[in-house]
Amino acid sequence: MSKILITGGAGFLGFNLAKHLVKKKHKVFLLDNFSRGKLDYAFESLIKYKNIKLIKKDLLNLKFFKEQFDIIFHLASIVGVKNVNKNPTNTFYINLVSTLNLLRTVKNKKKTKFIFFSTSEVYSPLIENKKQFTSSQEKNSLLILNKTRPRDSYYLSKLTNEKIVTLSGLNYIIFRPHNIYGPRMGFSHVIPELIYKIKRKKICKIYSPSHSRAFCYIDDAVNQILKLSFSNKYYNSIYNIGNMKEEIKIFELAKMIKNIVNQKCLIKKFKNTPGSPRRRVPNMRKTLQNLKNFKFTDLKSGLLKTVEWYLNEKY
Ligand SMILES: NC(=O)c1ccc[n+]([C@@H]2O[C@H](COP(=O)([O-])OP(=O)(O)OC[C@H]3O[C@@H](n4cnc5c(N)ncnc54)[C@H](O)[C@@H]3O)[C@@H](O)[C@H]2O)c1
Repeated sequence: MSKILITGGAGFLGFNLAKHLVKKKHKVFLLDNFSRGKLDYAFESLIKYKNIKLIKKDLLNLKFFKEQFDIIFHLASIVGVKNVNKNPTNTFYINLVSTLNLLRTVKNKKKTKFIFFSTSEVYSPLIENKKQFTSSQEKNSLLILNKTRPRDSYYLSKLTNEKIVTLSGLNYIIFRPHNIYGPRMGFSHVIPELIYKIKRKKICKIYSPSHSRAFCYIDDAVNQILKLSFSNKYYNSIYNIGNMKEEIKIFELAKMIKNIVNQKCLIKKFKNTPGSPRRRVPNMRKTLQNLKNFKFTDLKSGLLKTVEWYLNEKY
């Protein structure tokens, strides 16, 4: 049994990690300031478990913890293009100060494993500058473009955090998740936005229709993350988290969702969103080498579960 801290524990990934960990009888501490995470029915049910403790706190005001944790999953962050664009300076401030404050609370550097959640967006400048023609690979050197847009504050803060964690003296893992989706993922992601538009609008504008993505169902992401995090073989390294098997164009994705939702709306190709990478597909070789015979959820099954949740859940 391990003592585990999850920052951003009320968010999409944090909640789903906690759901799995609590059943394995670990003592799980969920920290969140509820800026995005929700105290909804699903979360209320989770925190009824005796081995879960909720810490309502902002990482910006964090000084210390009484406990010493075996594993810290650090997920709390400003996320979502709209939030980031609204205040890029704040994105840097929150993402960097949160991580620095959290690292300062670790008393015994030998005992604690620090798991940092970065992002697939760190590969975006390589894709934009046509330096990367194949899928995103962990060993690639990354690129910082001269041109700076508000949304860059997200990947730049994540990249800086990667370096801070690498130099922290702790045993660490850096995960770069690629388009994880599933029930209770909030609304500011492509799949819930499409479900919402297709269900409610007569004409549905599809932005960046020819851009392609490879989506990974939440249970597969959680399995990958937990298998790597709980083994002593894997640390001080970077791993992509995702599913490379079913790359799909956004317009085709909209057609799939339209079929599942079974709605008559007209879907129309529209302009590209500024800064949106034209292709995002993880190279999963390194992660899968360590997870023998990993079975992925196919896109159709994952979408069925997700659409069903969004159409039926009271949130
Ligand atoms: N979901 C994905 O596909 C994806 C892709 C790439 C990277 N990531 C990264 O994985 C992590 C988790 O993503 P998610 O989709 O679960 O996001 P999320 O927004 O659902 O969860 C983040 C949580 O952090 C909390 N939070 C934010 N700032 C905080 C602070 N200062 N103090 C305490 N809590 C704070 C929010 O309230 C929220 O509950 C993030 O770091 C994100 O950048 C996710």
